Amino acid sequence: MVPFLDLKKQYKEIEGEIFSAVKRVFEKCRFILGEEVSAFEEEFARYCNVQYGVGVDSGTDALYLALKAVGVGEGDEVITVAHTFISTALAISFTGAKPIFVDIDPTTYTMDPYALEHFIKSREAKGKRRRMKAILPVHLYGHSAEMDAIMEIANRYHLPVIEDACQAHGAMYQGKKVGSFGLLGCFSFYPTKNLGGYGDGGVVVTKSKKLYETLRLLRCYGERKKYHHFIKGGNHRLDEIQAAMLRIKLRYLDRWNEGRREKAQIYKKMLEGSKVICPLERELSQHVYHLFVIRTKKRNALQTFLKKKGIETLIHYPIPIHLQKAYKDLGYQRGDLPLTERSAQEVLSLPFSQGITESEIEEVAHQIRCFFELPALPSQQAGGRQGRQY
Ligand SMILES: Cc1ncc(COP(=O)(O)O)c(C=O)c1O
Repeated sequence: MVPFLDLKKQYKEIEGEIFSAVKRVFEKCRFILGEEVSAFEEEFARYCNVQYGVGVDSGTDALYLALKAVGVGEGDEVITVAHTFISTALAISFTGAKPIFVDIDPTTYTMDPYALEHFIKSREAKGKRRRMKAILPVHLYGHSAEMDAIMEIANRYHLPVIEDACQAHGAMYQGKKVGSFGLLGCFSFYPTKNLGGYGDGGVVVTKSKKLYETLRLLRCYGERKKYHHFIKGGNHRLDEIQAAMLRIKLRYLDRWNEGRREKAQIYKKMLEGSKVICPLERELSQHVYHLFVIRTKKRNALQTFLKKKGIETLIHYPIPIHLQKAYKDLGYQRGDLPLTERSAQEVLSLPFSQGITESEIEEVAHQIRCFFELPALPSQQAGGRQGRQY
């Protein structure tokens, strides 16, 4: 068996520290918006090289509150991509606005800046420019979107950028952390993420004091002072216990991301010449491999084959958002986003984490080669899997 992800391994590495952090919270008996949340917000903002962080209850709400903070609401449009987790679009819908999808660059699976510009121009030509309120690129699988081009277009058309960095903690573009390019950057701490909690959680980071203050009101009943409500905010707070545990894990994030990068290189090396397309790391980007996603036209057959061999894989994501039943009302048709749709048919996420072993990677690569009827890896030919240097 090669599991898709083994969270226990990582937990065991830090078990003692996690328990002391939880104990610290219990000893203070302050469970909501205490010192741990404030300290984590500061530490995570510093990690992203921005001034402010606001801890919230999930990545979905991080996006929703970020959109609300820049004033997106009923009747507005937000430009994003359809090759992403559904939350990206749901967060837009929750504000009353409409998600509009542009196609992706199929080499990185992120927003294609040409498609973005083309769309904005076509909207302008139809006199519908004013409905567009924001751009929401997604740093998918751990690889940044092309932020210089996206920011240039956004600035030219005076549109705020909100980054969905839920899959890309620590990823960089031109040496700068994702989440620090736009007005606001949104992260999820869902347990499987590169920085994952032990439950739900999220954060919005920003350089703007004004947005920071608005976000703090939005996440906690619009309250500035106990029982004084300035706006209609909700309950979207990050838990004190989650924050305490995330503070521990944040200290390991760079090391773990480095581990992911090393394991990704091993995969790439072992999959050389295997007929699958491996993830690309663009020259200007530093990938953090939240997922290791390969691509092949024979995706479904390969997935079935690997399952029979005890290898767990997943598809991120099998149905693009514009073709989901939940978004039928938007009126998109198959063929509207050809590169997105093709990606959805061809991508396959292999077992992956910083803790995956070389022999597990070798087993996956070996079985992929078997599927394509390719010669075995040299180490397999020699009859053993030990001692190979990749
Ligand atoms: C790209 C993307 N956006 C948003 C989210 C939503 O995050 P959460 O699950 O914390 O609500 C996720 C998480 O799965 C995600 O992968």
